[in-house]
Amino acid sequence: MNRTKLMKINPTLRLALLLATAGTLATVAPAQTTNSTLETTNAPEATVPGSNSIPVLQIKAGQVVAKVSPMLYGLMTEEINYSYEGGLYGELIRNRTFKANPTNAVFWSAVSNAVISLDTNAPLNAALNVSLKLDATQAAKNAPAGIANGGYWGIPVKPKTAYHASFYARAADGFTGPLTVSLQNADGKTVFAGAAIPALTGDWKKYEVTLTTKKVKPSKDNRLVITTTAPGTIWFSQVSLFPPTFANRANGNRPDLMQLLADMQPKFLRFPGGNYLEGNTIETRFNWKNTIGDVSQRPGHLDDGWGYWSTDGLGLLEFLEWCEDLHMQPLLAVYAGYSMHQQHVTPGPDLEPYVQDALDEIEYVTGDTNTTWGAQRAKDGHPAPFPLRYVEVGNEDWFDRSGSYDGRFRQFFDAIKAKYPQLQIIATAKTKTREPDVIDEHYYRSQEDMEAHAHDYDQRSRTNQTKVFVGEWATRVGSPTPNMAGALGDAAWMTGMERNSDLVIMSSYAPLFVNVSDFGKGRSMQWKTDLIGYDALNSYGSPAYHAQKMFSTHHGDGVLATGSQDIPTYTWQPPARRNRDGVEQPRPPAQEVPTLFFNATRNSQSGTIYLKVVNRSGTPQPVKVEISGSSIASKGTAVVLKADHPDDTNSIQEPAKIVPVTEKVKGLGTSFTRTFPPYSITILELKAK
Ligand code: AHR
Repeated sequence: MNRTKLMKINPTLRLALLLATAGTLATVAPAQTTNSTLETTNAPEATVPGSNSIPVLQIKAGQVVAKVSPMLYGLMTEEINYSYEGGLYGELIRNRTFKANPTNAVFWSAVSNAVISLDTNAPLNAALNVSLKLDATQAAKNAPAGIANGGYWGIPVKPKTAYHASFYARAADGFTGPLTVSLQNADGKTVFAGAAIPALTGDWKKYEVTLTTKKVKPSKDNRLVITTTAPGTIWFSQVSLFPPTFANRANGNRPDLMQLLADMQPKFLRFPGGNYLEGNTIETRFNWKNTIGDVSQRPGHLDDGWGYWSTDGLGLLEFLEWCEDLHMQPLLAVYAGYSMHQQHVTPGPDLEPYVQDALDEIEYVTGDTNTTWGAQRAKDGHPAPFPLRYVEVGNEDWFDRSGSYDGRFRQFFDAIKAKYPQLQIIATAKTKTREPDVIDEHYYRSQEDMEAHAHDYDQRSRTNQTKVFVGEWATRVGSPTPNMAGALGDAAWMTGMERNSDLVIMSSYAPLFVNVSDFGKGRSMQWKTDLIGYDALNSYGSPAYHAQKMFSTHHGDGVLATGSQDIPTYTWQPPARRNRDGVEQPRPPAQEVPTLFFNATRNSQSGTIYLKVVNRSGTPQPVKVEISGSSIASKGTAVVLKADHPDDTNSIQEPAKIVPVTEKVKGLGTSFTRTFPPYSITILELKAK
């Protein structure tokens, strides 16, 4: 199959279909809940032209209408945009196993007069079935020959830092070494650190050295170089370089990115995808059994949904350890017999091995060491089981045109519930024969569309038991990362999820990560508008990241009854959409969309009330706040995220252009007026007395 073509077409087609179906998913049933009864006054309603009335927000401080789901804010992740390799995963060597391309040693270069090639004879093992052959027959004292790797758009070199370099090697007869391993800048003129491997043999053996830098300036235009001054031939397998990792985990994660995530205080991690779970074909699915154990025994696989090789160095156990490090619950998505090129496994006996794989996977996560897979986990280095409450069956199975999901879901649901009745099962599409505990809904929208739908869940029926997991959502404005307009759309949407978190029990923005190094041919980004951006050296949170962090860290445990008057609106003409078959549908009528969004929650322990207000308009918005049911201290706090322009954004060059500012506020009480800045998201912390 033509991979290039698939890579280009698949995500785009998928997005078109997604947009076409997103509206359908959001269809609401006309029902009311306690919290939405008062909220109905917050429906789009034009301010009377010429009227001087200002919007009024009413909060009933004593009336908790729903619980805020403690799991509401989490993370969704997959291998896209070089999220793991070239991102979170600590490995600095690109194509460390030489399997990224079947014919060329891509991302590797020969040093001096050496010749390099791929060799499938006498590999390290069946998993790493190709090695890099270095012909250094011309090597000499004044002409060291060898191999070099420039990492994922660079290798970060930081001062006084210890790097762990390792590789497997064997030598042809007559060569015994030594080898020099060094960290150099790109032209080789500056050597930051080096170490020697004194001798090699004719058998595969692992070599390890520590490369420690001195007081150098941080830089990324660097490479790892392995050379010899003695003539000979050497084969390499799994050449690896790790910087210090978060919590010093071996085979662990990049600290700055982990810290950005930790600061969001996420409650769960949905993994391993997304398209990455499914693959384009059954063959290229995320096959978890190939992702555990010693990394040198992992074959890796082509992430064909996004078009690049994954070594699976970040495998099932590493996902779980990532959860452990950030105190998140794993939300485990199991492969459900559907891959994106419309390949599906027929429910019944053919599907059994896949169901068994899922049961084994759950046992690997949760089983004690007396179980087969719990024992395997212990052998892999983690005897203690992990907590697990949610298992998701598949990903976006509404794309499966065969209609097999209902049968596939039923088979997984019955088998998982029979063995693990305590688990909550998440469906990814509508089902008829089994009622899922939770349904995963995905929304990728423009700012206007997001705002227009911010009240959807106020109306959603609560009659059946199924809860909602908004497992992928984003206001797709801004590239590579969302700008302030994106953050405003997101914040409007989050007020709706939070207000309805009796129903929407979990949510996770997607995609989470993007490597922003290459927007040209090398393509470090497959999907634009991603929460967190980075290159080899630096990282930053987008305005949308900050909006989410604000919501996630300020919500208490109870949703308060609210009402409003005179909410201003703007007129929006929704675009014509296409249906599943790509046929353009009639343009929907223009609609009025609020410019102001809000919700209120309370912390029952401290009495703090969190009033979140989003002003998406370009003018300052005076608002009257009326609080009943409690007296309110005159002093409080405001956390404000704002921009001068909706296009304003953060970037590698300006990582902190838009960040939240916390200020003390006076003059609060049961009735006060506050002016919210243009393009702003505010969380007012009010102290109930
Ligand atoms: O988040 C990007 C992609 O969008 C996910 O992989 C997929 O689930 C959805 O179509």
